[in-house]
Amino acid sequence: MDVTSFSMSEQLCQHFGDCGGCSFQDKPYREQLAEKEAAIRGLAAAGGFSCPIRPINHFHEWYYRNKMEFTFGETDGELVLGMNSKARRGTIFNMQECRIFSPDTHTIIDTMRLFCRSKGYSWHNKYTHKGFLRFFTARETKFTKQLMLAIVTTTQSELDTEGLVAALRGMKLESELKSIYHIVSDSWSDAVVFEKKILLWGSEFVCEEFNGLRFNIGVDSFFQVNPPGQAALYKKIESELNLTGNERVLDLFCGVGSIGLFLAKAAKFVWGVELVPAIIDAAKANAELNGIKNISFVAEDARKFLNTQGDFYRGVDVAIVNPPRCGTSPKFIRALLRITPKIIVYSSCNPVTQFADLALLKEEFEPLFFEPFDFFPHTRHMECLTILKRK
Ligand SMILES: C[S@@+](CC[C@H](N)C(=O)[O-])C[C@H]1O[C@@H](n2cnc3c(N)ncnc32)[C@H](O)[C@@H]1O
Repeated sequence: MDVTSFSMSEQLCQHFGDCGGCSFQDKPYREQLAEKEAAIRGLAAAGGFSCPIRPINHFHEWYYRNKMEFTFGETDGELVLGMNSKARRGTIFNMQECRIFSPDTHTIIDTMRLFCRSKGYSWHNKYTHKGFLRFFTARETKFTKQLMLAIVTTTQSELDTEGLVAALRGMKLESELKSIYHIVSDSWSDAVVFEKKILLWGSEFVCEEFNGLRFNIGVDSFFQVNPPGQAALYKKIESELNLTGNERVLDLFCGVGSIGLFLAKAAKFVWGVELVPAIIDAAKANAELNGIKNISFVAEDARKFLNTQGDFYRGVDVAIVNPPRCGTSPKFIRALLRITPKIIVYSSCNPVTQFADLALLKEEFEPLFFEPFDFFPHTRHMECLTILKRK
């Protein structure tokens, strides 16, 4: 593990303690990595797995997240823009910086806040459902350094769109501003709901690029938060599988298709399965953008897919499993076993649920190694990769 030591007082974000975002920031990064490795060793020992545990992969410690959602509120009679305060529950703290998102955070947040204050807009109270300003979302691609900004409001006032675009375009930024949206939502939900998307200026998408692939990311697209980590994970999967061009690959929980698209160049055919139809649309668009023809995508629950269409995929060379944090289910694992894949690649952002699933695969499959990836520095989260071979 090669991590440059740093002085913690210099490195701590001014919001540490108030912001719930990165609660490990006061722990030297070297220690964070050691603890994550130890957690994987503990899970492996508890599960009775004796395969090697490889050193944790780590990337940029700061400014790694590619998306943030900030909330408007009021504190001491003043409009604020930031995140939920841990110190003063029920209030929003006024964000000045975010060390895990972007060096441009201060400029974009301050510009948005000052613009909204100058217009006298009200903030939306989620309990009374009164008020105009709800959220401000920002996406920054990490390889191409492009920014997409979106203000989310109710219909309870009128946004000065020309003024907002002029204010945001006047910012001096390290990344390139590509796109400005107005999202209108009167939903009762306390999350960003894309009821109406209005492109105020610039491109419909920002474009991320890695491992020779391009990905168009829209204002409501799902994309993994740490692209350099993702790029390294996919390269590791590629080098472990060493595909020859004859393999059939099933990419379960495929999201926007990025693992399957990367492996397709060395496989015979890849099928991606994902629950959310809009995400599958993005996966298809990514295949087209990259001119990849030996891949197809299905919008379906992964277990249902295996149960209803599994016969066609029986004996598939590689099954990739990359589920959400909650993991899969015993029924899914049984359906996966029924199609008798030769190799299972299981990568997860929640090793606890991953190891629970591995216990259910244990009779038929053995892991060759465990390899953690620190996709989420300064938080307790990590990604963990294992490749399983039939016993
Ligand atoms: C961790 S993400 C994986 C994304 C993708 N493999 C990648 O690397 O970008 C998990 C994905 O599983 C999808 N998902 C959740 N439940 C599902 C289910 N029951 N069946 C299929 N896909 C599901 C989510 O919508 C999400 O896109």
